[in-house]
Amino acid sequence: MERYWSFVALEAQDLGAKLRSDKWKKAARNRLADYADRRARDFVVEVVKEVIKLDRSARVLDVGCGPGKWSIMFAKTCSSVTAVDISPNMILLARKNAEKEKLENLDFHVMNVSRLDVADETYDLVNCVTVLQHMFDDDEWRKAVLEFARVTKKGGYILLFEVAPSFAVKKRTSNLRIRTMRQYANELGKVHAHLVYWRAVDLSLPITYLGLRNYAASFNKRVYYFISRRRLPTPGLLSFLSWGSALLARVIDYKLGETPLSYLSLGRILLFQKTSR
Ligand SMILES: C[S@@+](CC[C@H](N)C(=O)[O-])C[C@H]1O[C@@H](n2cnc3c(N)ncnc32)[C@H](O)[C@@H]1O
Repeated sequence: MERYWSFVALEAQDLGAKLRSDKWKKAARNRLADYADRRARDFVVEVVKEVIKLDRSARVLDVGCGPGKWSIMFAKTCSSVTAVDISPNMILLARKNAEKEKLENLDFHVMNVSRLDVADETYDLVNCVTVLQHMFDDDEWRKAVLEFARVTKKGGYILLFEVAPSFAVKKRTSNLRIRTMRQYANELGKVHAHLVYWRAVDLSLPITYLGLRNYAASFNKRVYYFISRRRLPTPGLLSFLSWGSALLARVIDYKLGETPLSYLSLGRILLFQKTSR
């Protein structure tokens, strides 16, 4: 698992270099991928501002920080951020990204989320975006969830952004272990962290999934950008199609995500608050 994420980190670094090369100037912009990023950010920011009302003195732990996108975002508005990841390459990449921002209230550590080397009740917020859904071992998953509650202050929050539907999904995928929202709530409830809010993130999944897959399949299975080739649509046309799909996805996620249709969503933000009992 650690080797897999280290490989992904190297690839992410490589993508930046590729996008600067001449060859990649012919690439169609994948507006669906850009949209998916913006949607995640908008929804997390909304929860942090409107529901948690996190103040500037807050201490944040970003678990499975990856390249540090969320750690950097929180460091700009909170007193301090600790970011941990199991992959040393991800931590290197996150450090580099934080250096570019000249932030000094951030520290990074290679650490397994199931065994946090952190004192009890240290953080006002534990932020965990798309990490637990990739943990196949149920015991490790359970330990991680318990660790999150242990290191959260009483009254503090745990924000999970994971595939966590209302119904069981039997299908096995190579990189996802889908647990229901109830499974998350039951496990965290045992340690006095209660689900206080949730919202759908990806009601538009059929559109975004197909769009992203088509891009990937059209040139390179690993990177979601498209280089012009004769028999395939031009980059301009592809950019336009992805822009149209992103627009439709936006209406679905931002509008229908607030209606009872949200029960059909797979990806969700789950917010837990730790109480004294
Ligand atoms: C899909 S990435 C998400 C990264 C980041 N949270 C984001 O949203 O950009 C999942 C991250 O979780 C990390 N990870 C997976 N299992 C972990 C574990 N047991 N302990 C710590 N980090 C882990 C991976 O190394 C990877 O960086």
